[in-house]
Amino acid sequence: MCGIVGYAGARPALNIVLDGLRRLEYRGYDSAGVAIVDGGLFTAKRAGKLANLEKALQDEAGLSAGTTGIGHTRWATHGGPTDRNAHPHRSADGRVAVIHNGIIENFAKLRAELEASGIEFASDTDTECAAHLLAIELQTAVGDTPGARLAEAMRAVCRRLEGAFTLLAVDVQAPGVVVGARRNSPLVVGRGTGENYLASDVSAFIEHTREAVELGQDQVVLISADDIVITDFHGAAAEGRPFHIDWDASAAEKSGYEYFMLKEIAEQPHAVAETLLGRLNEHGDLMLDEVRLTDQDLRDVDKVFIVACGTAYHSGMVAKYAIEHWTRIPCEVELASEFRYRDPVLDRSTLVVAISQSGETMDTLMALRHAKEQKARVLAICNTNGSTIPRESDAVLYTHAGPEIAVASTKAFLTQLVACYLVGLHLAQVRGVKYADEVAAVVAQLQEMPGKVEQVLDMMEPIRLLARELAEAKSVLFIGRHVSYPVALEGALKLKELAYMHAEGFAAGELKHGPIALIDHGTPVVCVVPSPRGRGVLHDKVVSNIQEVRARGARTIVIAEEGDTAVAPYADHLFYVPVTPTLLAPLVTTVPLQVLACEIASARGHDVDQPRNLAKSVTVE
Ligand code: F6R
Repeated sequence: MCGIVGYAGARPALNIVLDGLRRLEYRGYDSAGVAIVDGGLFTAKRAGKLANLEKALQDEAGLSAGTTGIGHTRWATHGGPTDRNAHPHRSADGRVAVIHNGIIENFAKLRAELEASGIEFASDTDTECAAHLLAIELQTAVGDTPGARLAEAMRAVCRRLEGAFTLLAVDVQAPGVVVGARRNSPLVVGRGTGENYLASDVSAFIEHTREAVELGQDQVVLISADDIVITDFHGAAAEGRPFHIDWDASAAEKSGYEYFMLKEIAEQPHAVAETLLGRLNEHGDLMLDEVRLTDQDLRDVDKVFIVACGTAYHSGMVAKYAIEHWTRIPCEVELASEFRYRDPVLDRSTLVVAISQSGETMDTLMALRHAKEQKARVLAICNTNGSTIPRESDAVLYTHAGPEIAVASTKAFLTQLVACYLVGLHLAQVRGVKYADEVAAVVAQLQEMPGKVEQVLDMMEPIRLLARELAEAKSVLFIGRHVSYPVALEGALKLKELAYMHAEGFAAGELKHGPIALIDHGTPVVCVVPSPRGRGVLHDKVVSNIQEVRARGARTIVIAEEGDTAVAPYADHLFYVPVTPTLLAPLVTTVPLQVLACEIASARGHDVDQPRNLAKSVTVE
């Protein structure tokens, strides 16, 4: 959702804040704004992408001297994406400026109260309430220094707010200080030398420091050039968890690629290899990253629920096949946004696996908390150190994909698949249903996957050419069976979100129960075909489904395993992927679908990295 950055140090803040916003723009790009304490309080904000704000700032003179600042890039919730609704919002007396990520749920009540006291609102946002309340609290706040008083006022405001929020504030009377607060929404501290940072994620300050501090739930933090002071909402001293960021600024750059998405697709072999690195110890046992569960806890598990959203949900659908096959434990996959509302049956022998690239997706976080309230064990698969979901889980397996900047998830998906396979194998091993050598054999197959993904990437030129032909299609359908069914869903999701085209994924066997009526002359149907080896029966069934759609006029685009000649007569376009074990096939079959969606979107002239209406990391429910 929104991107947030704050700086307190000795250097001019404006460019540092703008650079941070550039790196955070993937979180939201409806509007952007900055506030700099510079003797007075300078604010500037503009609807549209960051470039609009930068252009407006070019016309301003003498702004760059202030060494304390905050900046925001927005994904609109309350109030449309206009100049007046862009952040920062100032208090009525002009003393403080506030930026916010999240939703203040009791904002209507607070706004009515503030308006009744004579305050006129300058925007339609929930955030503006926080700015006015902060200025009111500052009038009576006690503290030894102006910064301490700002932090005290922020705590008082937070105690009145309901919902999810990260807030940053600057006060014209507290130069050199930025105060932040968080509840259910991300905020990390960057620890520099003679300067400190606050941001929604570390990419905002990675170019300046790789030392970060993770904040806990319901905490307020004050940063100045030399100090970081953390308390809870009642003023009790609190500790953050320091961590080192193990990637550098270049990982968050396009490095010559036209889009981040293209770069991230190309990085997949490396990301898969990194996620596998060091997973087997000297006894052949699989290693997770953080485990606050005993082996006995895992042996007691009698049911697995996977909760996730969007692309992460699709990786969970693949995991279900692997986990049930390897462990023989029943496994359900649930959309996180639905999970807690249907009152699932959970207890301490249930393992809930929460999958999230960002570690901040509110739907997934709420599903996780619901599971914990019911005493279930929670294991997180996550790509973001310092985020909320792993912190609140009993065990964590990090995907080492590096930062994913493009809004559409690619390398995170492949690494989530790898992590899911590892969780399945770990469970199987701990429970004694697989011997160490059996686990090692699958791990060895997994170790071959980076090379196979690389081979697929080397064969993408024909897909790119086809994408240009399909750019004008009205609708594209995707079909698959078994683990290829979630791959079909993922292919359709990528096309929808990037190319704004109608696209749907189906279990191939379901077509005849209704969706086959969609097929018209020339309708492109992408068919993901299982291996003819192993579960050959699946292969033959899908080949029949391809014949069915072709008989009704479909243009068939077939992704099949090398050497699968049986499918060739029914393919208008045939793309081979390397021979791969059945359960691991999504690691190779997904890649052409990512490239197809990216190229169609680009051919249609869309911004591949920042599709309309979307934002990375959805921190509202
Ligand atoms: C689609 C996409 C989204 C995310 C979903 C969950 O390309 O990126 O569907 O997968 O919003 O996000 P995380 O994994 O951060 O919880």
